[in-house]
Amino acid sequence: MTLYRPPAPHPTGPVRGLIRAAWRGERDLLSLMPDIAYTTSIGRLGRSRRGIVLINEPDAVVQVLTDPLGVFPKNDLMVGALEGLVGQSMFVASGPPWRRQRRMIEPAFSLMRVNRSFEAMKAGIDAYEPILDDAAQSGDAISLDATMSALTADIICRTIFTQSLASQTARDVFAAFGQFERSVANTEIRRLLLGRPFAKIPQSAAVREACARIRNHLATLLKPRLAPDAAPIDDIVGAVIAARDADTGEGFSESELIDQIGVFFLAGHETTASVLTWCFFILAQRPDLAARLRAESENLADIRLEHTKQLGFTRNMFREAMRLYPPITFIPRVAEQDTEIAGHRLERGCMAMIAPWTIHRSPNNWPNADRFDPDRFEGEVTPGSYIPFGYGPRICVGAAFATIEATLILARLAQRYDFTPLNPDRVRPVARLTTKPAEEIAVRVTRRA
Ligand code: HEM
Repeated sequence: MTLYRPPAPHPTGPVRGLIRAAWRGERDLLSLMPDIAYTTSIGRLGRSRRGIVLINEPDAVVQVLTDPLGVFPKNDLMVGALEGLVGQSMFVASGPPWRRQRRMIEPAFSLMRVNRSFEAMKAGIDAYEPILDDAAQSGDAISLDATMSALTADIICRTIFTQSLASQTARDVFAAFGQFERSVANTEIRRLLLGRPFAKIPQSAAVREACARIRNHLATLLKPRLAPDAAPIDDIVGAVIAARDADTGEGFSESELIDQIGVFFLAGHETTASVLTWCFFILAQRPDLAARLRAESENLADIRLEHTKQLGFTRNMFREAMRLYPPITFIPRVAEQDTEIAGHRLERGCMAMIAPWTIHRSPNNWPNADRFDPDRFEGEVTPGSYIPFGYGPRICVGAAFATIEATLILARLAQRYDFTPLNPDRVRPVARLTTKPAEEIAVRVTRRA
């Protein structure tokens, strides 16, 4: 059987790519990415005020992301874009401040604690199913993306704070995240091409307002937990509140706690939601894959934690969707001093562009690179060629959490529902804060017998 090519721009020469993008009014980085960006191992990308070196070669990817000499901190553009929302939290910090936070936060995401979160994940799905049943009964189209975002945001709230998102607050947080995402993405393309390295990045009023709304909401959720007479709760926030710096014995301040919780929200729900959106879209296009996925869990009336580890095809579906649609499209770093990678000079301020999008789609790294084939994960994977969760010391702390959560959601919802896209031909990916569909995917929901 020929392998399926899910939606993605067809790479072309740089000039044709620009003309195509201008003609169709596309402005996102994915449709501008020339064919050479996929086939090169390592090379300069386009013309920009600061140099941008794209790195697809797995050994060089490993070298930059492990960064043994401390030459490649987080990229200043990315830090500038996110710091209004998440301060100097672990996602944006580098060097000793990052190391301190990582040591304090990692235990909150230990496998034992993630395993304990499993029941809260299930409760989130149970609470969401009536909404899907209503949509199935009414026959009204719903947005697949918004469905996945609402479900994963509720799960992150339940697992982090041990409480569900009240609907009005949830709507407000979603609206603010959406506003933040749209405005930040626009600023970034302009600055990527024209900005000076390490320049201060002013944010628009819309971004500042969205950040303030989200932070206020998080502060309200946190307040009762910090009250002097608050009973300790054994959840992720509880673990982060209790965390102490091994050297000073001090915990996080209230504002640092808001920074970190902002990161858990930001990094922990849209990422999983975007990959689930692609999974359900692909399952609707490929009934053969849907049948295999369902067959794996059809005899499980109640999916338990140990089952999620045995659902091999379901996990491979998730892995393959993250290969072709890595939620974090780019993991940029900046050269803090003149340096060299695989024989290429990078002057101070040059951007080392580690792009899961091109690394995962490079024909040098993957056979049939643009085809969807979950079974490829039955084989070995070369280190540095598959990095949806990053690599090295800064690898995602939520990787185990996200894998268990996504496997559970995929298995549970595929057992019970069909999501049929109304306009599958219009679906195409763009790079915003996550790799997501350019337009929301409208679907009709059917409850399965
Ligand atoms: C499918 C879901 C997810 C994907 C694809 C993903 C991807 C990533 C990637 C690529 C990085 C590394 C960024 C870099 O090196 O610049 C990262 C870091 C991080 N992620 Fe995730 N993530 C996911 C889910 C989560 C969840 C559920 C949480 C927490 C609730 C989370 C929290 C974090 C944090 C705190 C960091 C910063 C780690 C550090 O810098 O030391 N992520 N994530």
